[in-house]
Amino acid sequence: MTTMTETNAYWDAVREHVEHDDFGGGPTVDEYGSLARRRTGRPFDLDHRVERRELTSAYSWTVTDPATVTFVLEDCGPQVIDPLAGSGWWAHLLGQAGVDVVASDLNPPNGTEANNWHRGAAHLDVMRMDAVDAVRLSDPARTLLLSWPPYDSSIGRDVIAAYEGNLIAYIGEGPYGCCGDEDMWRLIEVEWVEIADHWPVQFYGLHDWVTIYERKRAA
Ligand SMILES: C[S@@+](CC[C@H](N)C(=O)[O-])C[C@H]1O[C@@H](n2cnc3c(N)ncnc32)[C@H](O)[C@@H]1O
Repeated sequence: MTTMTETNAYWDAVREHVEHDDFGGGPTVDEYGSLARRRTGRPFDLDHRVERRELTSAYSWTVTDPATVTFVLEDCGPQVIDPLAGSGWWAHLLGQAGVDVVASDLNPPNGTEANNWHRGAAHLDVMRMDAVDAVRLSDPARTLLLSWPPYDSSIGRDVIAAYEGNLIAYIGEGPYGCCGDEDMWRLIEVEWVEIADHWPVQFYGLHDWVTIYERKRAA
């Protein structure tokens, strides 16, 4: 049984900047202070700007607010494979709550520019491995955590095609967004069914979601 995470430095860095827009959107990290400015009339305070790119680089591309972490924990089961682990932040949070996570990446971040998405150090030991190889070597009982598969790249589709298990925890933007490619979304539509979803705290202007997919059963 998994429990809620104990520490969450990413959330601590953004929680005071979360605002609700006036158009029915969900909670938003008000990167430029625009929503707060509209609400309060206060001038923009440059010292309190949130640097999205620094935070996504250091942690993960979706904000790991507590409700979002809890949602993933409730659905991911005890064993997970995270083959596009980036900084390993999700693996770290899930591991902190007792989930056994295998985390790998083609370029585990090590403080150099080799990983264009994550420039700092990783939060745990991220294995260096191509994602398709990692999934092929993995026990299919592990849930596939697929978080922000790179845009317009075949890797998201290739990973899903190689995965033999039955559950995907997908984090990122949807079809026509900035994750994966058309083939990935077609494959999901044909072979997978959405069983739960969750609206995370988003950076202003982004449309990322968490969706749990189950493999469709043969008729
Ligand atoms: C947009 S980042 C997302 C990282 C992390 N999942 C997150 O949500 O923050 C994409 C990650 O995929 C990794 N990646 C790209 N192609 C890969 C491949 N063929 N095999 C393994 N990792 C790959 C990159 O190195 C990068 O760390």
